[in-house]
Amino acid sequence: MANSIVVGLQWGDEGKGKVVDFLTEEADVVVRAQGGNNAGHTVIANGEKYILHLIPSGILWGEKQCVIGNGVVLDPIGLVTEIEKLESQGVKISADNLAISNRAHVVLPYHKELDEARELARGDKKIGTTKRGIGPTYADKANRNGLRLADLLNKEVALELIATRLKDANEDLAKYGLSQFTAEGVLENIAPALERLKPHIKDTIPLLHDARKAGQTILFEGAQGFFLDIDFGTYPFVTSSSTSSGGAVSGSGLPPQSIQEVIGVCKAYTTRVGSGPFISENNDFSDYMHNELGREFGATTGRARRCGWLDTVLLKFSCLINGVTKLAITNLDGLDERETIDICVAYDIDGVRHTYPPAERDAWNRAIPIYETLPGWKCSTEECTTWESLPENARAYLSRLAELAETNIGFVGVGPDRKQTIVV
Ligand code: GDP
Ligand code: IMO
Ligand code: MG
Repeated sequence: MANSIVVGLQWGDEGKGKVVDFLTEEADVVVRAQGGNNAGHTVIANGEKYILHLIPSGILWGEKQCVIGNGVVLDPIGLVTEIEKLESQGVKISADNLAISNRAHVVLPYHKELDEARELARGDKKIGTTKRGIGPTYADKANRNGLRLADLLNKEVALELIATRLKDANEDLAKYGLSQFTAEGVLENIAPALERLKPHIKDTIPLLHDARKAGQTILFEGAQGFFLDIDFGTYPFVTSSSTSSGGAVSGSGLPPQSIQEVIGVCKAYTTRVGSGPFISENNDFSDYMHNELGREFGATTGRARRCGWLDTVLLKFSCLINGVTKLAITNLDGLDERETIDICVAYDIDGVRHTYPPAERDAWNRAIPIYETLPGWKCSTEECTTWESLPENARAYLSRLAELAETNIGFVGVGPDRKQTIVV
């Protein structure tokens, strides 16, 4: 396998975790380069369900080197909880297979409080964040007053930096009527988690570059989805990191030439958690997913995901900007019992046909989906193991979406299990 990145092409929860897990078999190193524990990646393997938030899904293979890169915002307490849960499920995690960049910015308790308070203050204009402190932590990073793991390992240095940062942060908290933090309190809160993580925290640059020089295969695990990207997403209803393939470069410290293959993960339909535009949203289809199939509930917050038809205006744009070389279409089985299936092929905005998503916020409110309708296949695909064994109408649906996306399909998911993956 070539060095590859797995990137979500929609609004997250496309099934990146499952695709990364599947591809890890042929990889030596698996790297997360952005986002934080706002992510929730579900993998089902050997009859067991694992949920990963910060740790690359590659950890489930035991002997693979996993790296949490500098571009990630890291909640130490959340990470320790995640490690303990995985260990209780028999996953081996040690300093030998999990390295954490000492340049990663740290999510501190006041980031989470500010995230929640700002959401409340937005009222009906809320973003619907995961309340994991992601936005405030990336804001501190950009404001140049964030704290990195390397800053927190020495107690005196850490206390001084936190105290300086708290001067402003406490003022912000006071505006929302929240209690004040002290530097000692903040450090005490995270100290046990930092101590537990210490053996993993290092400069990951030599490790990654040595692996590259030695010809090892590197797999990047994207988090969130392209339309949550801070530049290209449905701004301001986005997350605070670069979720595109480009983000993997700055978030890991590996150069662009170290990625040869970009695998774009896309559900056979569309889902979104949180607020913001969703042109092909369909309430009947959402009800069907939640009530009849009992699926599409978030892995991080448990919220019901909004559901709708596949939107190829978005998909084509995603493929273009991420440089997708292969599509991984997941959850095809979610459409198994549908009589007909719609695909959104363009938007009508003020009577004009658009095949690129708009940048103007208010244009999203006026966009009307233009659909093509294809016949369903009305039978289970869950046992299919090859392209040829898929029902004819399922193949026709996949071929049409690939044509609209102008990208070839490399993988098709027909169930949540590692084994339910068709290589095309
Ligand atoms: P991620 O955040 O992109 O890793 O995706 P999530 O794990 O949050 O959400 C994807 C959901 O779909 C999870 O519950 C997966 O177990 C499930 N899943 C992934 N691929 C497939 C598939 O092909 N079919 C079915 N039925 N479920 C899938
Ligand atoms: P994975 O990696 C789906 C969404 C939130 C909210 C917006 C901003 O599992 O695909 P944030 O907490 O990041 O400030 O919230 O982004 N969001 C996700 N939606 N999957 C995710 O990750 C998400 N991470 C953030 O719901 O709308
Ligand atoms: Mg998810």
